[in-house]
Amino acid sequence: MERKAKDRYEVVGIAILDSKHRILSQGGGIPWVISDDRSRFRSLTYGHPVVMGRKTWESLPSRPLRGRTNIVLSRREQTLPGAVVVHTAAQALAYALKSPGSEEVYIIGGGETFRAFWPFITRLELTVVYAEMPLQKGEVVVFPPYEHTFSCVVKREERICGSIPYAFLTLRKSHCTTPPLREETLDGVEG
Ligand SMILES: NC(=O)c1ccc[n+]([C@@H]2O[C@H](COP(=O)([O-])OP(=O)(O)OC[C@H]3O[C@@H](n4cnc5c(N)ncnc54)[C@H](OP(=O)(O)O)[C@@H]3O)[C@@H](O)[C@H]2O)c1
Repeated sequence: MERKAKDRYEVVGIAILDSKHRILSQGGGIPWVISDDRSRFRSLTYGHPVVMGRKTWESLPSRPLRGRTNIVLSRREQTLPGAVVVHTAAQALAYALKSPGSEEVYIIGGGETFRAFWPFITRLELTVVYAEMPLQKGEVVVFPPYEHTFSCVVKREERICGSIPYAFLTLRKSHCTTPPLREETLDGVEG
């Protein structure tokens, strides 16, 4: 049976994290500034709904993210100018699927929100940084363990920014014809 257009959508997790500990942020901030990562984030997410946790919304330097329906997950009733507030992952996806560009729904973080959407995510767009984290005080937020579940490497692009090596990875869960991701391939790049 032919599927309706709205049935064909993909939930994509997008993040920048370090290769060893999957750290997303420390002390409330993202430790690396990699301009190509920002460009890639914009070009992938532009025109599509973006779903984020309330803390990530508050951490955005400029909000809402323009050209995208901004959907914010919170347990509290609140009004956020430029965003739609929802209270569950299911509500977020239902709203996203009514939004422009809903064939791809981007989950943009942070850690708690990635965990809430984990069962729905079918593709990851990661920027994996192969560098020691600069030491900072404050709460550490980590990305869920993904290497075994998202073991299919659809695309891998090694890059360097100054002295920081990193890779753009596109990963999928299964039914993959490319070789599986092995842990040593994540840790094996010289810093
Ligand atoms: N490296 C990266 O790619 C990346 C990406 C995004 C964010 N970050 C960083 O990650 C940090 C924030 O991450 P975080 O894990 O602390 O917070 P978060 O996921 O951004 O937001 C957490 C908040 O979202 C709401 N929430 C989460 N799960 C929910 C659920 N199942 N149902 C209803 N509401 C829910 C709650 O809001 P209420 O408290 O309002 O109820 C919760 O306090 C920031 O420092 C940010 O800079 C990094």
